[in-house]
Amino acid sequence: MADADPVRDLHSPRARRTLERPMNERPTLTEYGVPIDPQSMVTPPEATALELEPGHPGNGDEDYIRRRKDLFALCRQHRLDRLGPPIVDYTPEETRIWREVSPKLDELHVKHASGMYLDAKRELAITQNEIPQLRHVSARLARETNMHLVPAEGALPYRIFYQYIAERGFPVTQFIRHGSHPEFTPEPDMIHDCLGHVPPLMNHDYAELLTLIGKAVSRTTRGEHVLALKRFSWFSIEFGLIEEAGETKVFGSGILSSTGEIPYSLFSGDVKREPFVTETVITTDYDPSRMQDHLFVASSLPFLRRELEALVQRLDIRAA
Ligand SMILES: [Fe+2]
Repeated sequence: MADADPVRDLHSPRARRTLERPMNERPTLTEYGVPIDPQSMVTPPEATALELEPGHPGNGDEDYIRRRKDLFALCRQHRLDRLGPPIVDYTPEETRIWREVSPKLDELHVKHASGMYLDAKRELAITQNEIPQLRHVSARLARETNMHLVPAEGALPYRIFYQYIAERGFPVTQFIRHGSHPEFTPEPDMIHDCLGHVPPLMNHDYAELLTLIGKAVSRTTRGEHVLALKRFSWFSIEFGLIEEAGETKVFGSGILSSTGEIPYSLFSGDVKREPFVTETVITTDYDPSRMQDHLFVASSLPFLRRELEALVQRLDIRAA
């Protein structure tokens, strides 16, 4: 397990892990190795105030905590009021962190990222020098694929996250990780979102795949369906590998935004890689707090879309 890394992608805030009421006769689901209340997948609690988790590198740094709280409040307000991403005046320290991490990722992307991602990143012209303003990036995406960016204060509960995506809005954070350990963040931040998730939104097929997941998640009221779609998404959008011209390339944003996870995912002998089979994927649990040692390789983007459409049909998730 490399210590110089990983961007842990926690799109499910830990608050949801706690069972707040007895499950009684409800069927249980298992996620991250523990039983969960299926209803928590459908109506999850939402964090209204920021608390850094124990072990967050920013704990104890009052300036960082103040900045993080300010951006939490600003982005939450912009999200709830549907104002679009705010223009953020980034500090020299935040710019320094961006300039340290993004060239390292660029170097790995050129070698290992999927062609779709590389084309999209080039089109979007995100530079190593300046932290992009998401308001401008959002306008560019809207022109290309009719997607837009939604400012997010931090990790949003999965179903809320995908409800925005169903409306072609991708929630993105606007804060930067702590500078003491620039290659690590315990929560999604600008580097994870902007260098992992945002570029592929320029691709029409990718945008359609994503919005199809979003619509299915929004329509269903069954926890087991949400969990199945979440796992489909985790093992493709977040942590997927893909075949390209006989080579395995990195597709998932969680891998693409992590300097440790890119080589680990492709070359480590500790990682089990197997072909993407939907029935296996949706019944496979994972632990988001560590580097991923079980990955699936999709044969193509159209393959993922066909598989998703078949899954939605099989689960009988229909428009309300
Ligand atoms: Fe992510």
